[in-house]
Amino acid sequence: MLPRKHEREQLIKTVGVVGAGAMGSGIAQVFAQAGFSVQLVDLAQPILDRARATIDNSLTKFVEKGKIAAADRDATWRRLSTATSLDALANADYIVEAIVEDANAKCELFASLDARLSPDVILASNTSSISITSLGAATKRPDKVLGMHFMNPVPLMPLVEMVRGQTTSAESMRIGSELCTRLGKTPVEAADYPGFIANRILMPMINEAIYALMEGVGTPEAIDTVMKLGMNHPMGPLTLADFIGLDVCLAILDVLHEGLGDPKYRACPLLRRLVAAGHLGRKSGQGFYKY
Ligand code: CAA
Repeated sequence: MLPRKHEREQLIKTVGVVGAGAMGSGIAQVFAQAGFSVQLVDLAQPILDRARATIDNSLTKFVEKGKIAAADRDATWRRLSTATSLDALANADYIVEAIVEDANAKCELFASLDARLSPDVILASNTSSISITSLGAATKRPDKVLGMHFMNPVPLMPLVEMVRGQTTSAESMRIGSELCTRLGKTPVEAADYPGFIANRILMPMINEAIYALMEGVGTPEAIDTVMKLGMNHPMGPLTLADFIGLDVCLAILDVLHEGLGDPKYRACPLLRRLVAAGHLGRKSGQGFYKY
């Protein structure tokens, strides 16, 4: 007999996370900390090794600050496995995809997951701006495809933007939102328009800060200080852009510009030039600041 609807999310015990970059490793960590068995998958072992080091660093900080006990850290590790093949996801009850922000790569992965996994498994994407509807259309289960957009750094940020595609069912949204609550996070629903809510608002602010820098309105430090001390933002917009990755910011702005067709989303030429130079922010050692 099929489980009753309200029991379905309780049956989610094993979560597969595909993509072990900054976001994927954070997502795997928070699910494992919340008691789920987690399979973290990426193509190459060095990426998984780096993800393990990132998770270790984060859990150690939490132990040092007394936010979790050392025993919780050890239990988290026992629940988390890594693998280089999608075969490891055979027992997953729920998937979160967090691979590169490339629509073709994501559609290909969704089609492949759809072919491999039981038809009742929900496929969530951590995409920051790619259409959930088009990811759903790459599968035979578009009602079970949704956006689950975590914020960076995932272990600290309480928001998850839950994106409903054109054909995502209310039941899938409810199960995804329940999972967020079990992670101790707050789900907020957004419709499937480019950039959803978070990046529709955040990226134009970052872009404007870059225009202000390009036009010599202020130095990077001046621009960031105004927003930190004047608006109480935890990071100034240029520091935040370096933190997110300038390539990621540019890709999101391009999606907003193309998808909404309004010139107000046109990426600042200085941002484009920094990305072309390989100055991608913190991860490359240089962006608006040097690291
Ligand atoms: N795990 C555990 N602890 C962590 C951590 C992690 N991953 N990252 C940082 N910390 C800890 C630090 O060790 C530090 O601890 P102490 O206070 O004991 O030193 C504490 O958190 C605060 O960190 P910092 O002192 O380094 O810096 P901070 O006070 O500025 O806080 C921050 C860091 C929480 C990231 C804060 O700056 C912040 O909220 N910044 C804005 C982040 C943001 O806007 N994120 C959204 C980005 S947009 C996005 O993700 C979506 C997208 O699609 C682009």
